[in-house]
Amino acid sequence: MKAICPGSFDPVTFGHLDIVTRVASMFDEVIVAVGHNMSKNGLFLPAERVEMITECTADLPNVTATTFSGLLVDFCRDQGIGVIAKGLRFGADFDYELQMAQMNGHLTGVETIFLPTSPQWSFVSSSLVREVATLSGDVSALVPDTVAARVRAKLAERAG
Ligand code: PNS
Repeated sequence: MKAICPGSFDPVTFGHLDIVTRVASMFDEVIVAVGHNMSKNGLFLPAERVEMITECTADLPNVTATTFSGLLVDFCRDQGIGVIAKGLRFGADFDYELQMAQMNGHLTGVETIFLPTSPQWSFVSSSLVREVATLSGDVSALVPDTVAARVRAKLAERAG
Protein backbone atom coordinates (compact mmCIF):
# COMPACT_ATOMS: atom_id res chain seq x y z
CA MET A 1 0.00 0.00 0.00
CA LYS A 2 1.15 3.52 -0.85
CA ALA A 3 1.29 6.40 1.63
CA ILE A 4 2.12 10.05 1.17
CA CYS A 5 3.94 12.44 3.48
CA PRO A 6 2.92 15.86 2.19
CA GLY A 7 4.29 19.16 3.38
CA SER A 8 6.19 22.32 2.56
CA PHE A 9 9.61 20.92 3.61
CA ASP A 10 11.26 24.36 3.39
CA PRO A 11 13.72 22.87 4.29
CA VAL A 12 13.37 19.23 5.35
CA THR A 13 14.31 18.76 9.03
CA PHE A 14 15.22 15.82 11.27
CA GLY A 15 11.62 15.99 12.50
CA HIS A 16 10.30 15.35 8.99
CA LEU A 17 12.87 12.61 8.40
CA ASP A 18 11.88 10.88 11.64
CA ILE A 19 8.27 10.71 10.44
CA VAL A 20 9.18 9.64 6.88
CA THR A 21 11.45 6.87 8.20
CA ARG A 22 8.73 5.52 10.47
CA VAL A 23 6.06 5.71 7.76
CA ALA A 24 8.44 3.92 5.38
CA SER A 25 8.62 1.01 7.84
CA MET A 26 4.82 0.64 7.72
CA PHE A 27 3.98 0.99 4.00
CA ASP A 28 5.25 -0.61 0.76
CA GLU A 29 5.85 2.74 -0.87
CA VAL A 30 6.08 6.28 0.49
CA ILE A 31 5.95 9.45 -1.57
CA VAL A 32 7.24 12.59 0.11
CA ALA A 33 5.35 15.31 -1.70
CA VAL A 34 6.27 18.98 -1.67
CA GLY A 35 3.14 21.06 -1.98
CA HIS A 36 2.30 24.72 -1.93
CA ASN A 37 1.01 26.09 1.36
CA MET A 38 -0.80 29.28 0.39
CA SER A 39 -0.09 30.84 3.79
CA LYS A 40 3.72 30.47 3.61
CA ASN A 41 6.49 32.31 1.74
CA GLY A 42 9.25 30.03 0.55
CA LEU A 43 13.03 30.09 0.94
CA PHE A 44 13.78 27.18 -1.42
CA LEU A 45 12.25 26.40 -4.79
CA PRO A 46 10.06 23.27 -4.77
CA ALA A 47 12.62 21.43 -6.95
CA GLU A 48 15.39 22.28 -4.47
CA ARG A 49 13.30 20.93 -1.60
CA VAL A 50 12.77 17.68 -3.53
CA GLU A 51 16.53 17.41 -4.15
CA MET A 52 17.26 17.78 -0.44
CA ILE A 53 14.60 15.20 0.52
CA THR A 54 15.93 12.79 -2.11
CA GLU A 55 19.48 13.14 -0.76
CA CYS A 56 18.35 12.69 2.84
CA THR A 57 16.20 9.61 2.15
CA ALA A 58 18.69 7.84 -0.12
CA ASP A 59 18.97 5.02 2.46
CA LEU A 60 15.21 4.32 2.30
CA PRO A 61 14.58 2.28 -0.86
CA ASN A 62 10.78 2.59 -0.77
CA VAL A 63 10.78 6.40 -0.47
CA THR A 64 10.66 8.85 -3.37
CA ALA A 65 10.18 12.62 -3.40
CA THR A 66 8.28 14.82 -5.81
CA THR A 67 6.31 18.03 -6.08
CA PHE A 68 2.57 18.31 -6.52
CA SER A 69 0.29 21.18 -7.38
CA GLY A 70 -3.42 21.61 -6.92
CA LEU A 71 -5.35 19.63 -4.37
CA LEU A 72 -3.52 16.95 -2.42
CA VAL A 73 -6.53 14.65 -2.75
CA ASP A 74 -6.39 14.86 -6.56
CA PHE A 75 -2.69 13.96 -6.51
CA CYS A 76 -3.46 11.02 -4.21
CA ARG A 77 -6.22 9.78 -6.52
CA ASP A 78 -4.04 10.13 -9.63
CA GLN A 79 -1.16 8.25 -7.97
CA GLY A 80 -3.27 5.53 -6.31
CA ILE A 81 -2.34 6.70 -2.81
CA GLY A 82 -4.79 5.68 -0.09
CA VAL A 83 -3.19 7.09 3.05
CA ILE A 84 -1.91 10.53 4.01
CA ALA A 85 0.59 10.35 6.91
CA LYS A 86 1.35 13.36 9.08
CA GLY A 87 3.41 14.00 12.21
CA LEU A 88 1.99 15.80 15.21
CA ARG A 89 4.29 17.79 17.50
CA PHE A 90 1.77 19.35 19.88
CA GLY A 91 -1.89 20.28 20.26
CA ALA A 92 -1.87 23.15 17.79
CA ASP A 93 -0.66 20.76 15.07
CA PHE A 94 -3.60 18.50 15.84
CA ASP A 95 -6.12 21.34 15.54
CA TYR A 96 -4.69 22.35 12.14
CA GLU A 97 -4.18 18.84 10.82
CA LEU A 98 -7.53 17.46 11.96
CA GLN A 99 -9.39 20.05 9.92
CA MET A 100 -7.31 19.27 6.81
CA ALA A 101 -7.71 15.51 7.36
CA GLN A 102 -11.47 15.89 7.62
CA MET A 103 -11.63 18.14 4.54
CA ASN A 104 -9.52 15.69 2.54
CA GLY A 105 -11.68 12.79 3.74
CA HIS A 106 -14.79 14.73 2.79
CA LEU A 107 -13.44 15.45 -0.72
CA THR A 108 -12.44 11.92 -1.77
CA GLY A 109 -12.56 9.61 1.23
CA VAL A 110 -8.76 9.43 1.49
CA GLU A 111 -7.61 8.41 4.98
CA THR A 112 -5.15 10.35 7.14
CA ILE A 113 -3.04 8.81 9.89
CA PHE A 114 -1.18 10.81 12.54
CA LEU A 115 2.12 9.83 14.14
CA PRO A 116 3.40 11.52 17.27
CA THR A 117 6.67 13.27 16.56
CA SER A 118 9.57 11.78 18.47
CA PRO A 119 10.07 14.01 21.54
CA GLN A 120 13.55 15.19 20.60
CA TRP A 121 12.13 16.90 17.50
CA SER A 122 8.98 18.41 19.02
CA PHE A 123 10.34 21.95 18.96
CA VAL A 124 11.69 21.77 15.41
CA SER A 125 9.96 23.45 12.48
CA SER A 126 11.19 24.55 9.08
CA SER A 127 10.10 28.11 9.79
CA LEU A 128 12.18 28.26 13.00
CA VAL A 129 15.15 26.70 11.20
CA ARG A 130 14.88 29.44 8.56
CA GLU A 131 14.57 32.14 11.23
CA VAL A 132 17.46 30.90 13.38
CA ALA A 133 19.71 30.46 10.33
CA THR A 134 18.78 33.89 8.97
CA LEU A 135 19.89 35.40 12.28
CA SER A 136 23.20 33.47 12.11
CA GLY A 137 22.16 30.84 14.69
CA ASP A 138 23.35 27.22 14.61
CA VAL A 139 20.88 24.79 12.99
CA SER A 140 23.34 21.94 12.56
CA ALA A 141 21.55 19.73 15.12
CA LEU A 142 18.15 20.26 13.51
CA VAL A 143 18.78 19.40 9.86
CA PRO A 144 21.21 17.10 8.02
CA ASP A 145 24.63 18.61 7.18
CA THR A 146 23.83 18.86 3.46
CA VAL A 147 20.64 20.79 4.26
CA ALA A 148 22.43 23.13 6.68
CA ALA A 149 25.01 23.86 3.96
CA ARG A 150 22.27 24.61 1.43
CA VAL A 151 20.48 26.89 3.90
CA ARG A 152 23.72 28.83 4.48
CA ALA A 153 24.37 29.06 0.73
CA LYS A 154 20.80 30.20 -0.01
CA LEU A 155 20.90 32.88 2.66
CA ALA A 156 24.30 34.09 1.43
CA GLU A 157 22.94 34.19 -2.14
CA ARG A 158 19.94 36.21 -0.96
CA ALA A 159 22.13 38.62 0.99
CA GLY A 160 23.88 39.31 -2.33
O1 PNS B 1 4.12 21.55 5.83
P1 PNS B 1 2.80 22.23 5.64
O2 PNS B 1 3.01 23.68 5.25
O3 PNS B 1 1.89 22.10 6.84
O4 PNS B 1 2.09 21.51 4.41
C1 PNS B 1 0.79 21.86 4.04
C2 PNS B 1 0.39 21.20 2.71
C3 PNS B 1 1.31 21.68 1.57
C4 PNS B 1 0.49 19.69 2.83
C5 PNS B 1 -1.08 21.63 2.47
O5 PNS B 1 -1.16 23.04 2.45
C6 PNS B 1 -1.67 21.04 1.21
O6 PNS B 1 -2.06 19.89 1.18
N1 PNS B 1 -1.71 21.86 0.14
C7 PNS B 1 -2.21 21.45 -1.15
C8 PNS B 1 -3.54 22.15 -1.48
C9 PNS B 1 -4.71 21.44 -0.79
O7 PNS B 1 -4.98 20.28 -1.02
N2 PNS B 1 -5.42 22.21 0.04
C10 PNS B 1 -6.55 21.73 0.78
C11 PNS B 1 -6.13 21.14 2.12
S1 PNS B 1 -7.50 20.49 3.04
